[in-house]
Amino acid sequence: MTESAKIKRLGMLTSGGDAPGMNAAIRAVVLSAHHYHIEVIGFHHGFNGLIVDDNIKQAKALLFSDVNHIIHLGGTILKSARCPLMLEESGLLKAGKTLKDHAIDALVVIGGDGSFHGLLALQKYWSGKVIGIPGTIDNDLDGTDYTIGFATAVNTGIEAVDKIRDTADAFERIFIVELMGRHSGHITFNVGIACAAEQVLSFENFPVTNKKAQLEKLAEDITLAQQQHCGSYIIVIAENLWQGGAIELARALNQYKNINCTACTLGHIQRGGSPVAKDRILATKMGVAAVQALLINEHNVMVGELNNMMKFIPLVESVKHHKLVSKQLIDAQENILALTAQHQW
Ligand code: F6P
Repeated sequence: MTESAKIKRLGMLTSGGDAPGMNAAIRAVVLSAHHYHIEVIGFHHGFNGLIVDDNIKQAKALLFSDVNHIIHLGGTILKSARCPLMLEESGLLKAGKTLKDHAIDALVVIGGDGSFHGLLALQKYWSGKVIGIPGTIDNDLDGTDYTIGFATAVNTGIEAVDKIRDTADAFERIFIVELMGRHSGHITFNVGIACAAEQVLSFENFPVTNKKAQLEKLAEDITLAQQQHCGSYIIVIAENLWQGGAIELARALNQYKNINCTACTLGHIQRGGSPVAKDRILATKMGVAAVQALLINEHNVMVGELNNMMKFIPLVESVKHHKLVSKQLIDAQENILALTAQHQW
């Protein structure tokens, strides 16, 4: 009997902020598991599905019919949740008990770093195998070049900022657009570069250390662009960077520098929508790899893709640091900014 034959029943849940492509990953896990004669039980509403009685009742075997024709759907058919109960011993004990009661041999969790912290904590209370699949629009997990959902979120951001550019151009207005990412600037940088934003403000290049001086510099840049008749001016800013976000920055520029800006917070629109090709394909590869990991007795790992190769990264490593925005991207933005600022319009 091989190691793989020991896995008879796999549990699966989606947790934390949903991300486009989670359904594609669910589908891939179910189809691949069935191929290897492994049953899959879907738990609903994140880790609550293992802890809250009403949610535990929703656990059910996932069949081909459940995952047929879901690859193109945003959100998650398993529903998601943030689960503070996973921070409490009573919650972890209950989660371990539910997994035992359902005779689960391995648990696959599709989510971000908070979800993986939950998985790591669970290991003290349950002896089954755990696998993480990185599903978050934030792209902040170490050990994978991209997380499921990031590409779609960036595309959504691009479409939105392009539209804002149209109206900004028409009125020659200054816009401050706030993008998601929790504490990382992957979405902000990628959208900013792809939309030729005049300013990209993120944790990596604009740590808020001296608000007064930073306002001064921003006002100077904007005024220079206006003197050169640049027309519209778009600043993209990472959420949680400036206290009060885009709205507060716009207010401060107006109050202290007499510059009128329109603030726009894109918000949860970035989490929804049909996943783009890149996310569907990445999710499918990762879902299959997660099941295959169990077959070769890999566990306590996150499935990641590095340089086009599927890898299994210890879960502990994946959450140690937030993956940083690449230096090349930051350099590219700085170079372009410097060039455009020098240009005589
Ligand atoms: O982690 C995904 C994410 O969308 C972050 O970008 C954002 O900071 C957070 O979730 C928002 O969480 P919630 O939907 O719980 O407000």
